[in-house]
Amino acid sequence: MIHYKELGLVNSRELFRKAMASGYAIPAFNFNNMEQLQAIITACVETKSPVILQVSKGARQYANQTLLRYMAQGAVEFAKELGFAVPIVLHLDHGDSFELCKSCIETGFSSVMIDGSHLPYDENVKLTRQVVEFAHQHDVTVEGELGVLAGIEDEVSSEHTHYTKPEEVEDFVSKTGVDSLAISIGTSHGAYKFKLKPGESVPPLRFDILEEVEKRIPGFPIVLHGASSVPQDIVDMINKYGGKLENTAGVPEDQLRRAAASAVCKINIDSDGRLAMTAAIRKVFAEKPDEFDPRKYLGPAREALKELYKHKIVHVLGSANKA
Ligand code: G3H
Ligand code: 13P
Ligand code: ZN
Repeated sequence: MIHYKELGLVNSRELFRKAMASGYAIPAFNFNNMEQLQAIITACVETKSPVILQVSKGARQYANQTLLRYMAQGAVEFAKELGFAVPIVLHLDHGDSFELCKSCIETGFSSVMIDGSHLPYDENVKLTRQVVEFAHQHDVTVEGELGVLAGIEDEVSSEHTHYTKPEEVEDFVSKTGVDSLAISIGTSHGAYKFKLKPGESVPPLRFDILEEVEKRIPGFPIVLHGASSVPQDIVDMINKYGGKLENTAGVPEDQLRRAAASAVCKINIDSDGRLAMTAAIRKVFAEKPDEFDPRKYLGPAREALKELYKHKIVHVLGSANKA
């Protein structure tokens, strides 16, 4: 057993308490490789923001679980070296089984998500409770989920989205003992959240559901998944340099700012980072077709990613200077 405290990591409890009290959200950024991790940590140190480093099951398979964990440990030292020891949480994103959550907890994760949102309610409660019982023995925080977001390829619509039922949240939180709750209010994963016809704008998030949830579990930390905004200038840059991303739109940043000021304490962003890296790499490839040193295209991608994260921290989440 490697306990996260030995690695210099923290769980999310105190970070959420402060975020709730002051009306901002902690950034939860996914990483799979070194450049993404460098960009996240540098952005957070430069803005003095706490951060949740997210690792998905797919990231663990892609990059190797041991390597990722040592990278997170390295991130703690890297932040100190850059001059400011921002609080860092290492979080399992979308854990799908007790065994996966347990394995992460035993290898240094300070926080896990158990995503039982696709299960019938009682099974979601049972599985989440089982993870909480194990996690809390090690002072690891747990995120559960109620309601189902539209899938990666699905447009957000009532056909694909099962909005969180506010009448279930109180029971779920008290029966499971979770530390935070992800809810479904109209966001979805991936870069294709909304397909707009000319003249249409993105439908607003269901703030009515969020408010109802807040009333039933006051002061309880809420999590928003699928919170990329799919910036049009980045999409245009990808297409300009040979990409093909058509008719895509994400969650407008003003809606995320409004969410961050409420009980939403954690906002998950992955796709926007993927887009920013891709745009920067495509630009280098298009402008310098003779370039073949990975540092010459991953370096600019890392810089673009850092700027994107700083923008999110300062202008969307409000977590700058909260470390
Ligand atoms: O919500 C999912 C995250 O964006 C991680 O995606 O499973 O492709 O690593 P992934
Ligand atoms: P995006 O695909 O909108 O970036 O969402 C990421 C996410 O929710 C990770 O859990
Ligand atoms: Zn997610």
